[in-house]
Amino acid sequence: MKVLHTIAELREFRKQAGRVIFVPTMGNLHEGHLSLIHLAQQHGDSVIVSIFVNRLQFGIGEDFERYPRTLAQDCAKLETVGTAAVFAPAEDELYPHPQQYCIEPPAIADELCGKFRPGHFRGVTTVVSKLFNIVQPDVAIFGKKDYQQYFVLRDMVLDLNMPIDIIGAETGRAEDGLALSSRNAYLTPTERAEAPRIYRHLSQLHDAISGGARDFEPRCALVANDLTQHGWKVDYVEVRDAHTLGMPTLQSTRLVALIAAKLGNTRLIDNIEIEL
Ligand code: PAJ
Repeated sequence: MKVLHTIAELREFRKQAGRVIFVPTMGNLHEGHLSLIHLAQQHGDSVIVSIFVNRLQFGIGEDFERYPRTLAQDCAKLETVGTAAVFAPAEDELYPHPQQYCIEPPAIADELCGKFRPGHFRGVTTVVSKLFNIVQPDVAIFGKKDYQQYFVLRDMVLDLNMPIDIIGAETGRAEDGLALSSRNAYLTPTERAEAPRIYRHLSQLHDAISGGARDFEPRCALVANDLTQHGWKVDYVEVRDAHTLGMPTLQSTRLVALIAAKLGNTRLIDNIEIEL
């Protein structure tokens, strides 16, 4: 496995890498990330993983500074799952000067998480476009755990005619259902015990809606209320159309229930897809 730090090294490696499957990450890798790499291996010759904590997608007061940076451990994990190359640029390699040209996502990026993290998805679309231009992958894999991110990036590639297939990977979970996340490391033991409540609610929404329930708003309000009573600060509990991320309509064939809420200082997100 090659560990590459410069764009020049990456471009050189790319020349003989064949069909490239790209998995962008911010590091501090867990089993959820590794499942993306297993999936990637089924789709091409060389899996390239990037590790870069992207300042541009963090808001003021968010956790950019304290985001865990664990490159040595990450590389050890990636080595065991058959990664061809890790691209881990320093900040001034990707941003030698403040980024001047940005990819402005459409209005859907101002809803859900975008409402609570202004500019976040603009930071994501911009860095992922830069990474796509550097790596020039045939396929890129994103986790559905970050459903809105997956949606926005899939949409961006279509809208900008980028010749890259986007694949969505299922969410890796702990045994109690909690979606794996680098941010779980911030949870105290008490918070960690409370955290799976989000997934329990999502599973209940899934079962009720699969069983015919269509009273989305009052159900989501009840869930938000229960989370608040258990000490969460709720950003949103919503049911959306999975194809458009807009509000469900009578024509919707697949829905997604999404929750974002804070436990102490830690913001957790999760979702579940619902076939109708
Ligand atoms: P990061 O949070 O490190 O996630 C990297 C990739 O792993 C994303 O596609 C994310 O959706 C996926 N992922 C995280 N937890 C997962 C889980 N439990 N199961 C399945 N997939 C999971 O998302 C980012 O980094 C950044 O925004 C990035 C796209 C790299 C741009 O900076």
